[in-house]
Amino acid sequence: MKNSFYVGVVAIAVGLIGLAAVFVVNSAGTGSLVFRPAAESVGGEIFLYGTDGGRAVSRRGSIGMMGGSGLGCADCHGRDGRGGRASMMMMGSFEAPDIRWSTLTSADMEHADGEAPHPPFDRDSFARAIRDGVDPGGDELKSPMPRWGVNDAQVDALIEYLKGL
Ligand code: HEC
Repeated sequence: MKNSFYVGVVAIAVGLIGLAAVFVVNSAGTGSLVFRPAAESVGGEIFLYGTDGGRAVSRRGSIGMMGGSGLGCADCHGRDGRGGRASMMMMGSFEAPDIRWSTLTSADMEHADGEAPHPPFDRDSFARAIRDGVDPGGDELKSPMPRWGVNDAQVDALIEYLKGL
């Protein structure tokens, strides 16, 4: 009995602290009602929100019609970059690969859809993959991976961010 009382008190305290944190971030941040912590770097902003300095990075692909911004790598590859099963209203559910830099540059990678593995990525093949949708093995990256209109500085910023994941 006593134990469950303490558990309850702790749960409420944790909840209140969480709520306070949301208010603090919101009043310091974007002014939007949506909980959206500020990205700490250019790479992080592209990764999380698909924007750079608040402006959408251009992209083509199956979901090109879905508004200008608000779609980041994290929406499909996960906030931790580890990939997994993602689902999206218009795309149904699909498998997205692990894109942490350590994974991309290590051993030959399996395709999310089970196709033959391809050689590890380096900077240039990474840029080619996200701009033109071609992996280091020369295979096309399939839908719903978009093609991103990123410049060299944005590619480097993304790599820097993926290294930290
Ligand atoms: C709408 C979902 C979606 C978004 C957004 C998205 N991706 Fe992908 N991405 C995928 C899927 C699905 C694949 C797997 C395609 C395949 O295997 O043919 C993929 C593949 C990749 C690959 C190739 C990995 C490999 O093993 O060959 C890289 C690199 C990649 N994405 C990076 C990014 C980056 C960087 C961003 C953000 C700028 C991003 N993706 C945004 C869905 C997405």
